[in-house]
Amino acid sequence: MKGTGAQLGSFVVRPEIAKRVHFQSLNLVEPINMGRKFHVIFCRNVMMYFDTATQRSVVEKLAACLEPGGYLFVGHSETLGGIEHGLEYVCPAIYRNPCTTSRSTLPPDTISPTRFSPFGSF
Ligand SMILES: C[S@@+](CC[C@H](N)C(=O)[O-])C[C@H]1O[C@@H](n2cnc3c(N)ncnc32)[C@H](O)[C@@H]1O
Repeated sequence: MKGTGAQLGSFVVRPEIAKRVHFQSLNLVEPINMGRKFHVIFCRNVMMYFDTATQRSVVEKLAACLEPGGYLFVGHSETLGGIEHGLEYVCPAIYRNPCTTSRSTLPPDTISPTRFSPFGSF
């Protein structure tokens, strides 16, 4: 819920949602240690500010935070095309950590360009 008056610019998150959400700031150019892996990471419109070497380093760190089969979402104006990474291209702005040695906790085709787009049709 958006605040008004003296609370303008603030938000209140319902307790049942807030108790499931952990907020933490981090600097992507520093080592990332989240203490767990994620099924989905959204890192949209951030890497375009970094040079290629930094982008490669950041993607490597984010990929290491993904579960096998987990997804990395970047901004639509961003591409990982110019850098080496171990992620599979799914569709524009969406990459997937391949299922290798570990068993994925996600089904193999959770996201495909024909079945899902968080950005509408493309
Ligand atoms: C254009 S905004 C995008 C914000 C949001 N992700 C979105 O799509 O609306 C760029 C964001 O990158 C963040 N950023 C820039 N350098 C960063 C870094 N080294 N580590 C973490 N975040 C960074 C900035 O704080 C800013 O919030």
